[in-house]
Amino acid sequence: MLQQLSIEQYLKHQASEVEQALRQAVPASWNVPARLREAMDYSLHAGGKRLRPILVLAAAEALGGRLEAAMPAACAIEMIHTYSLIHDDLPAMDNDDFRRGKPTNHKVFGEAMAILAGDGLLTHAFYSIVQASLQHGVPAERVLAVVADLAELAGARGMVGGQVADMEGEQGLTSIHELEFIHLHKTSDLIVFSLKAGARIAGAGDPTLAALERFGTALGLAFQIQDDILDVIGDESKLGKPVHSDEGNQKVTYPYFIGIEASQDKVKELTAEAQKALLEADLPYPERLLQIAEFLMRRDH
Ligand code: IPE
Ligand code: IPE
Ligand code: MG
Ligand code: MG
Ligand code: MG
Repeated sequence: MLQQLSIEQYLKHQASEVEQALRQAVPASWNVPARLREAMDYSLHAGGKRLRPILVLAAAEALGGRLEAAMPAACAIEMIHTYSLIHDDLPAMDNDDFRRGKPTNHKVFGEAMAILAGDGLLTHAFYSIVQASLQHGVPAERVLAVVADLAELAGARGMVGGQVADMEGEQGLTSIHELEFIHLHKTSDLIVFSLKAGARIAGAGDPTLAALERFGTALGLAFQIQDDILDVIGDESKLGKPVHSDEGNQKVTYPYFIGIEASQDKVKELTAEAQKALLEADLPYPERLLQIAEFLMRRDH
């Protein structure tokens, strides 16, 4: 049934599956302070494209894997991504007031609770991944590899490292090479994780994982350049977050370095590069991943 959906229908369908699973991710029986649960739920259930969890599912699907077995890792990466956005919006970081069409977490719950809601989501991601094995019988060694990937790609050598480089870059970057480092880590790393997680759960071997890493690296870079473009020429009501945030924070971005048109060309070039890498992976069902890359290139939010 999934195969017959257009890419737009597919993305919508998978996003709603992920949302349903996210609602059960933190056991209702756990005694979590009410305000903390509320703050975590506020951002986690605020919508968003759910791109990263959809990539986990699509990568599993590309190998003929079981979607329900990939769902715990899909939820995990959305929790990590959501925590990264809560912290990214804090006054000490990008200082933004809107996210996913709503006031940012710290605007509603205060800075201390926003920091802790982020911490709660980050930690719970690891609980969620382990459920792939405990509830769905994925072999423990596959799940161990996914846990190690998450710690590496979301942590100091991955997304957190990229966010630090992004902050330091506000003081004045001089080369596109430094900017590429920021984008590769703050954005590509979570996308690479998502693809590898879905593939690992479906039993992928090293050559497939390496090709997916190349696909995700280029796709993530294209995604962040598009995000930077939309910060300049996008529509706030579609994006659900403020435009011109980068300029206000004196961020050095692709549009800043090479202009809008050359940045748009770069997104196309990277998308083609990503698709080429994916085809080298020799996956049994690569179509959805190819379509997702194509779709993202044209996105306006
Ligand atoms: C925003 O990510 C942060 C970036 C890395 C560009 P998304 O554009 O995926 O945000 P949501 O999840 O749809 O809100
Ligand atoms: C954020 O990049 C990447 C993260 C790891 C959160 P941005 O700062 O450009 O993301 P937006 O534009 O606020 O969503
Ligand atoms: Mg930022
Ligand atoms: Mg930001
Ligand atoms: Mg941005």
